[in-house]
Amino acid sequence: MSDFATRLIAWQKVHGRHDLPWQTPANQTADPYAIWVSEIMLQQTQVTAVIGYYSKFMQRFPNISTLASATQDEVLQHWSGLGYYSRARNLHNAAQTIMDDYSGQFPQDFNTIQTLSGIGRSTAAAIASFAFNQVQTILDGNVKRVLARHFVVEGWPSAPKVEKELWLLAEQLLPKQGMVAYTQGLMDLGATLCTRSKPKCAACPLMNSCEAYKQQRVHALPTPKPRKAIPEKNTTMLIFLRGDEVMLEKRPATGIWGGLWSFPEIESGHDIATYAQNNFGISALAAKPLPMLSHAFTHFKLHIQPQPLQVLKQQTSAREAGQIWLNIEDAIGAAIPTPIRKILQSLLKS
Ligand code: ADE
Ligand code: SF4
Repeated sequence: MSDFATRLIAWQKVHGRHDLPWQTPANQTADPYAIWVSEIMLQQTQVTAVIGYYSKFMQRFPNISTLASATQDEVLQHWSGLGYYSRARNLHNAAQTIMDDYSGQFPQDFNTIQTLSGIGRSTAAAIASFAFNQVQTILDGNVKRVLARHFVVEGWPSAPKVEKELWLLAEQLLPKQGMVAYTQGLMDLGATLCTRSKPKCAACPLMNSCEAYKQQRVHALPTPKPRKAIPEKNTTMLIFLRGDEVMLEKRPATGIWGGLWSFPEIESGHDIATYAQNNFGISALAAKPLPMLSHAFTHFKLHIQPQPLQVLKQQTSAREAGQIWLNIEDAIGAAIPTPIRKILQSLLKS
């Protein structure tokens, strides 16, 4: 076994994390479903943020079949606030695939696992090692950082060429036994010691063999991503107020916030009351705009101008497809994105 693996496993057993809610206690059989859900939530999200969502999600959807038979709206509601909602849609979709194609049993074959929606190579490896003790390597952002430093791998780690090199390296380091502690050790080392800023090399089990440490280049690695300016977009959101109710619209299934409930949007420049009349058949009085708020996505930044409107008269009382009127408290509990929840909470206070 590689020295790297031996030291990492020994360190994980003493200093690693052992009490996370998705970890399998000794003498218990691993539940691939529980591990799968946790690994999806932990993509792009920190452990501390995930824990509360995870236990609520598992209470409502304790197994593959309850998840598969739920509506997408309810799954999204339990994901509301975690962000990256395609993760929830893919999870739901994959649960249905497992019911239809694999008799409700989570597949054990590594290549089959990767065919499920939302599961890439690294997530498949995490599930295969934690749930089935298979010898497969993970390579998430934390692991890339550890390897780029330990072996001084130059270049942005997610550039295809660099990534390929890191996969090969990671494969060579794999132990034949102790995959659970090894995989968890890779994650724990990256999250607790070999952090992006202020790494704690003095406490690191790999310090003696770490090339970046030896060359005093820890802070220069991994090579940062070549920076492009992040585009910014502006939108005005229409908040129709009718008594204590607001109107929400279901967003299209794909794209940002796909399938979630949100406020209707208009581009700036329109006369708001005229727009409301022409597009919604609602005569309304534009009230004072609420303070702007901004939300950062991976690929752009969105500046939101919330515009409340007091409804005076509605041409049709018939419910338009994809629109609902909810009182503000119920709206806060619906499947809505975080900035919408912030706006609703500020309305509740005013
Ligand atoms: N990040 C991704 N998967 C994780 C896990 N199983 N434990 C802790 N952090 C993680
Ligand atoms: Fe990371 Fe420092 Fe350990 Fe090297 S010695 S692996 S840089 S924590």
